Amino acid sequence: MGKMASWLCILLLLCLTGCTTYESESKPVPVPTTDESLPSIEEWMQSVEYMTPLKKSIVVGFSQLGTESAWRMANTTSIQDAAKESGITLILKNAEQSQTKQFEAVRSFIRQKVDVIAIAPVVESGWDDILQEAKRAGIPVIIVDRSVDVQDSSLFVTTIGSDFYEEGVKAGKYIRDRLRNVPGTIRIAELQGTSGSTPSIQRGEGFRSILAERDNILFSQSAPADFTEDKGRQVMDRFLQVPEEERAQVLFAHNDEMAFGAIQAIQKAGLKPGEDIIIVSVDGSRKALRILADGQINAVVECNPLLGPQLMQAAKEIIAGRTLPKRMVPREDIFTQESASREMLHRRF
Ligand code: AHR
Repeated sequence: MGKMASWLCILLLLCLTGCTTYESESKPVPVPTTDESLPSIEEWMQSVEYMTPLKKSIVVGFSQLGTESAWRMANTTSIQDAAKESGITLILKNAEQSQTKQFEAVRSFIRQKVDVIAIAPVVESGWDDILQEAKRAGIPVIIVDRSVDVQDSSLFVTTIGSDFYEEGVKAGKYIRDRLRNVPGTIRIAELQGTSGSTPSIQRGEGFRSILAERDNILFSQSAPADFTEDKGRQVMDRFLQVPEEERAQVLFAHNDEMAFGAIQAIQKAGLKPGEDIIIVSVDGSRKALRILADGQINAVVECNPLLGPQLMQAAKEIIAGRTLPKRMVPREDIFTQESASREMLHRRF
């Protein structure tokens, strides 16, 4: 076999075994035309690598559930910033509180052949089929912030987000200790988040798990207010339309925004938030800590939205073929009126 023929054989072999490594839009490989121009195999491989890099940047498709709170905005910004810092291409879609829109986003990520799909799920249930679609497409899924309730846990790689049950426990312990010596029935009102969402379910359960120990506690009013200030104000307005002797002495708001709305309703009713009604909220935005320091909220349980760096790290690890823990939880605290002014200086949202 002549020198030219051997080269053609080698080129054909390389194409058969290696072509799929490169992106389809890569430039064509230069085919030598004369004996004199023939490069060595090493030179040829280098020129191919130079034109069509083996390692392309990671593409993450992220379905964010909405824009309902300062927490959510900080979460989105953290994910965008971390993607930029890690050189990861982020395709972000806002689902505006609609699970159907989240399904559409996941399908569009599958069509775009992203490397990793990340989802902040608006509610827990109903994810089995869409995650099966991602699995069939061979795209790993990371669940961020809230959880999914699926039969087959192999449908996602890991969940990165807070322990909402523990947040409810912290709120419950604060109320239990604060009202330890108060005699008689203590009525508690609760502004829940989005129905069917993990934080709403688990914060409520954690909170009750502590207060169930006390026989003078009555959950007198409880309703969803969708984690928004507007709904918080409307629902609290309704809660306050009861005779004085039935009014709650405590409000547990599942997030800061609903507490802000409730404070407006309480003031409108001629009452003093933080005094006539003890208020505990969750998240810990700078605004909440300022109101806490001012005395209109009594305690704020921290929920950390800055999950971007962990998400990007997880995406890289998955692409590198490493195994991740099934659950990753950030460390969180509880803020009181004593610690609020100091903590406010460090808040990043
Ligand atoms: O899932 C996290 C919760 O969602 C935050 O507590 C709340 O503010 C947000 O809307």
